[in-house]
Amino acid sequence: MSLVLVTGGTGHLGRDIVTRLVRDGHRVRVFARAPRPEMRVEWAIGDLATGEGLRAAAQDVHTVINAATDSPIARRGGVRPLDFFQSPSAVDVQGTERLLAACRNESVQHFLHVSIVGLEEAMLPYARVKLAGEKLVRNSPLPWSVVRATPFYYLFEKMLAGIVRLPVWPLPKTRFNPVDTADVADYLVRCAFDGARGKRADIGGPDDLSCVELARQYQNARHLHRAVVPLPERLGRRMGFIGSEGVRGTLSWGDWLDRELDAATAA
Ligand SMILES: NC(=O)c1ccc[n+]([C@@H]2O[C@H](COP(=O)([O-])OP(=O)(O)OC[C@H]3O[C@@H](n4cnc5c(N)ncnc54)[C@H](OP(=O)(O)O)[C@@H]3O)[C@@H](O)[C@H]2O)c1
Repeated sequence: MSLVLVTGGTGHLGRDIVTRLVRDGHRVRVFARAPRPEMRVEWAIGDLATGEGLRAAAQDVHTVINAATDSPIARRGGVRPLDFFQSPSAVDVQGTERLLAACRNESVQHFLHVSIVGLEEAMLPYARVKLAGEKLVRNSPLPWSVVRATPFYYLFEKMLAGIVRLPVWPLPKTRFNPVDTADVADYLVRCAFDGARGKRADIGGPDDLSCVELARQYQNARHLHRAVVPLPERLGRRMGFIGSEGVRGTLSWGDWLDRELDAATAA
């Protein structure tokens, strides 16, 4: 059975990828800074920011799914003034470079890299960091694929939760199609083993909605009543709220909100 290495396998998308790989009977190794006892996989412990553990992690690997990232915005679920000036590159750029080098030594057969739709248009430094990481993959001599996804529901929800106490929500009118990580993971696992390579079709969610409509659905689901002030469309695109005409996921924002609420109630 060929070995699949997943970086970022403890993250939101990564956990969904690992679940599918294990379900489908693949041999899975997760590269992480610390193991998660609840995940029954082979662990390779190390750090992309320093390169520690990468050589051992890449040993005997056939396919790599690179889903690690260091995004302060995603971690805290909101944008701070500093995010307009800088974003760390040690994981997404230098870490990707180190990982590619370790994989070259092991003759990896497929390096599948996860990226973001609209990086050229978004203005945040995080987008420039992601673009630099993506370019390293495209220029690598390894057989590679790049899959770009639209923003994930969990991140949009985190951002709305961060402004929940404000009486008025300023949000761009921008229309785009955010997506569930499970839909992205399904697509990635298909791409990992279908033999095709290179720049793959983007993936986004099933519905094109404005940030204002997304916020209204969120408020309805949470029984909130806040005024929403629409901001210019182009502001949202510069922030990275950019849609995709490629592959469409199946889970809608409304159904995702219901599912999360049910899970929270059950817990
Ligand atoms: N979030 C979005 O809206 C979005 C949209 C489109 C594409 N993407 C892309 O999808 C991918 C996954 O995003 P996500 O939102 O699921 O990320 P996430 O939940 O923030 O997870 C990031 C993962 O990277 C790992 N990581 C961070 N620093 C590391 C380091 N120094 N060494 C090794 N591993 C490290 C984290 O491990 P720990 O558990 O140790 O922290 C975690 O497993 C990324 O490539 C991202 O750019 C994200």
